[in-house]
Order: sequence, then structure tokens, then C-alpha cells
Amino acid sequence: MSDESIQETQFSRGLEGIIAAETKIGYVDGLNGKLVYRGYDINVLAEQSNYEEVSYLLLKGHLPSKDEYDQYVAGLKKSMDLEKDEYDLISQVSKTSHPMSTLRTMVSYIGGKDSGSVEPDLEKQEDISVNLIAKLPTIVAAINRATQGREFVKPDPDLSYSSNFFYMSTGRKPDTVEARMLDTALMLHADHGMNASTFAAMLTISTLSDMYSAVTSAVSTLKGPLHGGANERALALIRKVGTPENADKVIGDMIEKKEKIMGFGHRVYKVYDPRAKILKEYAKYVAEKNNKPELFHTAEKIEEVMINKLGSKGIFPNVDFYSGMIYYSMGFEPEIFTPIFAVGRISGWVSRALEYLSDNRLFRPKARYIGESELRKYTPINER
Ligand code: CMC
Repeated sequence: MSDESIQETQFSRGLEGIIAAETKIGYVDGLNGKLVYRGYDINVLAEQSNYEEVSYLLLKGHLPSKDEYDQYVAGLKKSMDLEKDEYDLISQVSKTSHPMSTLRTMVSYIGGKDSGSVEPDLEKQEDISVNLIAKLPTIVAAINRATQGREFVKPDPDLSYSSNFFYMSTGRKPDTVEARMLDTALMLHADHGMNASTFAAMLTISTLSDMYSAVTSAVSTLKGPLHGGANERALALIRKVGTPENADKVIGDMIEKKEKIMGFGHRVYKVYDPRAKILKEYAKYVAEKNNKPELFHTAEKIEEVMINKLGSKGIFPNVDFYSGMIYYSMGFEPEIFTPIFAVGRISGWVSRALEYLSDNRLFRPKARYIGESELRKYTPINER
């Protein structure tokens, strides 16, 4: 087969359906609504595990023994704090930037300070990975504080990963349910096949760049509204709709105008996203607990309208539809929702980038050329 015919037969817009890597990390079964990490069903992990264990599982391939767990968690705690210049930079950049842009700057800045980071050595890149898993919650929490003009809260080594993130973000320790909800949300976001930001991390590492650069690419990619940025907009939409009675008209008009409804639809899931199912239960719980059921009832009505109108096209709520409501109920402002997504996804990014690096092949797809077929004559600028 000639090179041209390979190009011809394998063309797929957005690489949809193209298999470009092999992985043992996990898979998404979009037709049956299943998400699996290293052979474990996400529902089982969400119920029985915690984020530290899940991040270890993704990185190493097996659930840790008690000793392995203790050692891993001790390593995370040792690396979780930031240095003074890093807190200072967060204060400075947060004055003008969206939290996702500040996060991107911070990962890049911390990477720039690590002179040994360019070693394409797996062990070195794994150390960086653990360092990033440890630091991401601290960075995002500090961005949250800086955005609100509040003092930074230093990490508390006695708290779990997600409780510590909550504490550093809000200045108070979470209650048991808040801690569990946040931990579950982070587990549910930890990995999700070869999504755009994970692919960006793999693409970057495939050039034998370093893990800081890979994660900087991933953060930049997650920022977009078709990917991680949808949660912020989903909550804005639910609030705009305001009451269940408005849902039919507002959503109907948007569909009529061919507008995308944020928090719905997925490139892989053509049924209900299993992560959304779990988060919906929490959103309901939070709404009832806070005695503010209106927002949840509005969301439920939007879901009903969407499924009635577009369910036959395989469009259902995705992970972003209900996550924002949960974060909001905990006191997080919408602009910090996507950085929270990044705190969960960091372990998937680094695990998949490391796995790819261990059997690396530079990513280099092609584009089908549909421009001028004849060579054009160059005309000097003053003759055009
Ligand atoms: N609202 C309204 N219509 C939709 C939506 C939506 N959210 N999603 C898809 N459609 C329609 C779309 O207009 C198109 O209709 P038609 O066939 O008449 O042209 C059809 O469904 C196929 O859409 P598509 O955009 O080609 O499908 P895709 O596989 O590229 O969609 C998606 C995936 C996530 C980009 C899209 O569903 C979307 O833009 N959703 C809103 C953004 C969102 O919630 N993103 C978060 C995704 S989950 C988090 C993550 O894992 O990254």
C-alpha cells in the first residue's frame, strides 16, 4: 500500500476512532457506560477506595500493600508544600489570569526550577510525576485563596489528600460527607482513556521532553470548554435557567439555535456517563442537606428535556453536569472547577505519559493536503 493510500483510508477528523497507542491503564466502554481503571470498575473504586490509592493504582498497576501505601502517602506529604517564590508567583499571576492560566504558569515555573527534569529517564520522570501529584492540590488551593484575596493556608500533613485540598482551599476542615464527596469526585476524574488533555501529555512526552512540560500541555488542553471547561459553564447554565419551569423553553431555544448545552454529550459515551450517575446522587444529597433543592430540581429538569430531545442521538449528562453543583455547595467558585478537575486528572496524565514513555514512539500524524494542486508563481510584494 502506498503512503498516499494509507493517508486516504485512515483519515478521521479529530482522530475519532483511531487507535494510536496501547495501554494497560484503563478503558471507557462508551456503549455500556463503563469506566475501568487497571481492571477495577469505577463504581467499586468510588465506593471503597480513596484518591491516594487510586493514584497509586494508576501509576504502578496494582493496589498498594499497606507498606507501599504508607510509603507512597509519606512521599506525597513530603513534597506537597510550595516554596515562597512559588506562593509569591501565584499571588502575582492570579491578579490578572484565570485560575487555569495560573495553574499552567505554575506547573511550567516549577518545572523550570528543576534542572534535572530533562533526563528522559523513566525513574526521574516518575519522581517528577509523584511531585506533581503531591503539589497540584496545593497550587490549586493557593490559586483559589489568591483569587479571593485571602491568606494562603499551608498543607496539614495529618489530613488525607482531598481533605487537605479542601482545607487549603477554604481554610476549614471538611465534614465527613464533604471529604467523601470531594475524594470521590477526584477519583472519578483521575483517568478517562485517551481524552484530549491526556493525549496532549503523551504527545509532549513522546518528543522526550519532560513531565513538567507534558503536564503544562495537559493543563492548557483541559482548559477548553469542550473538555474540562464545561463544568463551569454547566453550572452557569443551570443558574441561568433558574427554575424547572423555564427549562423547556430555554433549552429548547438553545437546541433550536444549534447551541451546545454544556455538561451533555461525549465523544465516547453514547449512554449515561457512569461518573455523572454517581455525582448526581451527591448533588441531590447536597441540595437536600442545604435545604436548597431548586438548583438540583432545575438541573434534573434540564436533564429530562435534553434526554427527551437528544437522547436518541446518544446525548446524556456527562461528568461535568453535576460536578459543578457539588463544588459550588462546598464553597468553591465556578472559575476553580476546572482546576479541581486537573487535581483529579493529574494521576491519569502522568501515568499514561509514563506508560507511553516506557515504549516510546514519537507521535507524528499527517494532514491530508487539500490546498492548491499546482505550484504557484511567487510574485514580489510590490507587484501584488
Ligand atoms: N448539546 C447540544 N447538542 C449536542 C451536544 C450538546 N452538549 N453534544 C453533541 N450535540 C449534537 C451536535 O450538535 C451534533 O448534532 P448534529 O448531528 O445535528 O450536527 C451531534 O450531537 C454530534 O455532536 P459532535 O459535537 O459532533 O459530537 P462529539 O462526539 O464531537 O461531541 C463533545 C463530544 C463533548 C465535544 C460534545 O458533546 C459537546 O460539545 N458537549 C458539550 C461540552 C461538554 O460538556 N464537554 C465535556 C465533556 S465530558 C468531560 C471530558 O471527559 O472531557
